[in-house]
Amino acid sequence: MLLDRKVAVIHGGGGSIGSATARVFAREGARLHLAGRSLPRLEAAASALREFGGSVEIAVVDAMDQAEVDAHVDAVAEREGRLDIALNAVGFDHVQGLAIADTSLEAYLHPVTGYLQTNFVTAKAASRVMIAQGSGVILTISTPGARLAGTGLIGNAAQSAGLEGFSRALAGELGPAGVRVVCVRPHALRDASESYTLGMFGRIADAGGTSLDDWWNGLAATTLLGRLPQLDEVAEYLAFAASDRAASMTGVISNLTAGALVD
Ligand SMILES: NC(=O)c1ccc[n+]([C@@H]2O[C@H](COP(=O)([O-])OP(=O)(O)OC[C@H]3O[C@@H](n4cnc5c(N)ncnc54)[C@H](OP(=O)(O)O)[C@@H]3O)[C@@H](O)[C@H]2O)c1
Repeated sequence: MLLDRKVAVIHGGGGSIGSATARVFAREGARLHLAGRSLPRLEAAASALREFGGSVEIAVVDAMDQAEVDAHVDAVAEREGRLDIALNAVGFDHVQGLAIADTSLEAYLHPVTGYLQTNFVTAKAASRVMIAQGSGVILTISTPGARLAGTGLIGNAAQSAGLEGFSRALAGELGPAGVRVVCVRPHALRDASESYTLGMFGRIADAGGTSLDDWWNGLAATTLLGRLPQLDEVAEYLAFAASDRAASMTGVISNLTAGALVD
């Protein structure tokens, strides 16, 4: 198994990418600690994992709050004796699709400060433990907005480019301690049916006067593969990136856009 007995914390563990990744991590032998904002989604994710016989604990932890996240990570490390993987799969609704003239400063900054804050908080908490043990992997999730141009993307673009820069710089800082940092950049996931993105993409489609189905099809047509990535594909890649098979991979922004962007 790829992640045999590795100890993983997933923030946003009840979310679409968080829970899909938890399933793959569990199948690959990881000991899971899912943290999130609301108990029902965490419980649903955990019960799906227990069907596999996977080891899973859940905790309500606000991933914006340094003291709460530190305390949770410390408790996990104390109980398990180590922390091998920390994934931030936190997501929340924000404005996309509006021109700058129609975007308030507050709406613009909401994803920028929010995503950069939560990833700082969770990476800081995990890195203390990982530096001390001399190993570990921090996983972050960006979006294609980091590299796209067009109306309605400024907040998403700034947060995604910022998160990619953060991940790259952190990899340089933590590398000498044996800690890897990998950022993945998936394209929009049509099968993430519980994600906040569904409402957000629906509003973008509405604003463009098109149906959500047509909007998805239009987006898929911009990829080299003629289709969007799927949740399981992102989860499988994250499991590989977290594993020792990717031991020489750090400071990378992994392009999971099905070829919408080329490197
Ligand atoms: N879905 C996509 O198409 C897509 C594509 C590319 C990148 N991404 C990125 O992937 C990440 C996850 O997205 P997703 O689609 O999996 O979203 P999701 O299904 O809506 O899940 C997000 C999770 O984050 C949790 N959360 C929000 N604020 C939190 C906080 N302060 N503390 C702890 N947990 C919090 C949510 O909890 P509640 O359920 O309690 O709200 C939810 O469980 C985001 O960074 C997003 O930008 C998504």
